[in-house]
Amino acid sequence: MTNVISFFNQAGGTGKTTLAMNLGYSLAQRGQRVLLVDMDPQSSLTVFMGLQPHELEETITQSILDRAPVSILKDIHNMDLLPSNLTLSAADVRLATAIAKETRLKKALAPVAPEYDFILVDCPPTLGVLSILSLVASTHILIPMQTQFKSFVGLDLLLGTISELQQEGVASDLKIAGVIPNLHDRTSQSREILEAVIEQFSGVAPVFPPIPRAVAFADASMQYLPLAAYDPKHSAVEILNVISENLETL
Ligand SMILES: Nc1ncnc2c1ncn2[C@@H]1O[C@H](COP(=O)(O)OP(=O)(O)OP(=O)(O)O)[C@@H](O)[C@H]1O
Ligand SMILES: [Mg+2]
Repeated sequence: MTNVISFFNQAGGTGKTTLAMNLGYSLAQRGQRVLLVDMDPQSSLTVFMGLQPHELEETITQSILDRAPVSILKDIHNMDLLPSNLTLSAADVRLATAIAKETRLKKALAPVAPEYDFILVDCPPTLGVLSILSLVASTHILIPMQTQFKSFVGLDLLLGTISELQQEGVASDLKIAGVIPNLHDRTSQSREILEAVIEQFSGVAPVFPPIPRAVAFADASMQYLPLAAYDPKHSAVEILNVISENLETL
């Protein structure tokens, strides 16, 4: 069974893209076959992987809007990539009146899914149609969140969306794989929020060890590299490996 994991949080800048790429790399290093899927018209994942989105003629857009077979770029840092570009921003409007739109990504991935152990989907920071398509295609959701009060307040909205999808039957089997506290620092507010998140999720889903705020993540992405390739000895690499080890037991 392929684990299809959406990195989702409607809040912006929580590390969805960074963690999809870095955990994908960690899983690939452990021998897992990994496909990364960029579902964000901003195309940050496509850029972080070293591509120029506007130069790509075939992206996920054609697969979602026109049901074209997926066009996968092979073997970038041991992972495959289904890229996006700005043309994906037309999806909202184009799919508004489309039939069976919720399953468009799920159906696009179905023919290639057996070739992978993990498909990691990088969602945009919205609750719009592209996120819904991603969640409907997924077996699991991973929630990267910042240990800040604002993110904590947004959790209710996030959990409400997930349970609505589960109850409406469009994603009835969707499970929460866990929460990844990211951009964590040593302030008392960060620690208090982390404790509150652990309490809120107790009995619901695991809260993984927090990933510290570290400028090396941004430096690595500027070099189009996963952190573990940029600085293998960085302390956050060990945490990423612990999380990916956990994902292997899903
Ligand atoms: N642990 C971290 N420490 C320091 N910087 C980080 C960390 N995680 C992510 N960043 C940086 O924060 C910025 C936002 O990260 P990223 O793009 O992964 O978030 P996102 O949730 O995908 O954003 P968006 O909501 O816009 O899609 C990037 O510049 C990234 O390099
Ligand atoms: Mg992103």
